[in-house]
Amino acid sequence: MKSVLVIDDEPGLRLMVRAVLEDEGWTVFEAASGEEGLALFARDLNYAKVVLVDMNMPGMDGNDTLARLHEIRPGLPVILLTAYGTIGSAVEAMKSGAFDYLTKPADNDELILTLKRAFEYSSLQEENVQLRSQLSGGDALKNLVGAGAVMRNIHNFILQAGPSEATVLISGESGTGKELIAESLHACSGRFGKALIKVNCAALPGSLLESELFGYMRGAFTGAVKDKPGRFQLASGGTIFLDEIGELPLDLQAKLLRVIQDRMIEPLGAVRSVPVDVRILVATNRDLRQFVADGKFREDLFFRLNVLEIEAPPLRNHMEDLPLLVSRLLDKLSAKNHKNIRSVTPAFLKTLSGYSWPGNVRELENVLERALILSRSDIPDVDALPPYITDPEGFPPHVSYAARENGAVWTDPQFAPDGAFPPPASSLEEAERSALIQTLRRHGGHREKTAQALGMSRRTLQYKLRKYGLTARAGALAEGATHGE
Ligand SMILES: Nc1ncnc2c1ncn2[C@@H]1O[C@H](COP(=O)(O)OP(=O)(O)OP(=O)(O)O)[C@@H](O)[C@H]1O
Ligand SMILES: [Mg+2]
Repeated sequence: MKSVLVIDDEPGLRLMVRAVLEDEGWTVFEAASGEEGLALFARDLNYAKVVLVDMNMPGMDGNDTLARLHEIRPGLPVILLTAYGTIGSAVEAMKSGAFDYLTKPADNDELILTLKRAFEYSSLQEENVQLRSQLSGGDALKNLVGAGAVMRNIHNFILQAGPSEATVLISGESGTGKELIAESLHACSGRFGKALIKVNCAALPGSLLESELFGYMRGAFTGAVKDKPGRFQLASGGTIFLDEIGELPLDLQAKLLRVIQDRMIEPLGAVRSVPVDVRILVATNRDLRQFVADGKFREDLFFRLNVLEIEAPPLRNHMEDLPLLVSRLLDKLSAKNHKNIRSVTPAFLKTLSGYSWPGNVRELENVLERALILSRSDIPDVDALPPYITDPEGFPPHVSYAARENGAVWTDPQFAPDGAFPPPASSLEEAERSALIQTLRRHGGHREKTAQALGMSRRTLQYKLRKYGLTARAGALAEGATHGE
């Protein structure tokens, strides 16, 4: 489809371009400012094949818009509209990567011809991207299983956003593959082969997280016996993946903002800042916009992180991929568990497709692993499925939800995923765990109240829940669900 986005603050000009181009079979989109145009591409890298942008606009001018567009979508043909007599700036624009320029008032034939060339250029580029993806991208995306329209969109986004240097915000429910998407983006980038450093912002308390991220110099504080490079330095030349970015404390948000703006970090106790060359990817299962509205997340940082945004789809929105996912996950789990289970019975698959998967692919993986271990046959049947999936009706909703939240098997440490169920190491930890469960139960799983009752911060509670393989709800219902299973 021949599509063009016209970015100009003058409605009259947009109307004129629309009239001329629609007659030629173009679909014409409009934006009244550079900011608006960028936002459209940030959501959909394929928003339009060609962009026509006015040089002189209030706010971001044509050159700024061009630079920002190329940051998120390298290779996009952008044509600049310049006022008559500003040839100097047109030359500058060509140097900075514009596809071409037109002087106002644009001659209709010239407009049509230039756009036609730009469209051909863009189609050629697309073929190249596809070719490249068949050559290498295919490999980078192979772990992200899915062949339906929803996942194809995700793959296409990754192929285009991967090579860009822009920060990407990966959002989505728990277990939807955000980390896999981050890995694929890195694998599709020019930084592949260099480090991909992952940091979970929720795993460490603020002070530790700071030295983990930015490092420190010897003598910066008692106990700092030698220099410690931060994760940003370790990621230099490569990519840093900041997971659960919504949990980053406000003071560190300010520091991160500075890193993004200056591309410099300041290790604790250092006399001067150190330049770092990193691509930043972040993920969250929180609603960051709501966090911004609630004052829990800096708005300026949000906009810096959200240059490109991709939403990992919940499994219930791409159930067409279920059979393929089952097959690929069985291969993976068979290898891990030294089994040779490659398929399931039709009834098994049908039961899976009738379930809503609140824990998404991770939950599916856990359910399959359980079946793989429990099944006496090489082709597991429904009897290898947990009751809350075969018979969701028979379960009080709260219990089945608690069980689902950790992927079916959390009450059953034997089958819990690695690390999800560390055995309490001491009686002290045992006591702490049971205090957590009891307090959660008393407060119906309400985290704020539980944290208050235990005299700890929400972050600490979060950390402890994780440590003991509990979720707030699951913790609150631990006993009830044990009876259920
Ligand atoms: N499309 C997919 N194809 C294959 N495996 C997948 C897919 N999506 C997720 N998984 C698997 O599901 C599990 C969870 O994925 P991942 O850790 O990337 O999710 P997440 O969105 O980061 O979850 P959380 O928010 O809980 O951290 C992993 O084992 C991953 O390999
Ligand atoms: Mg994750």
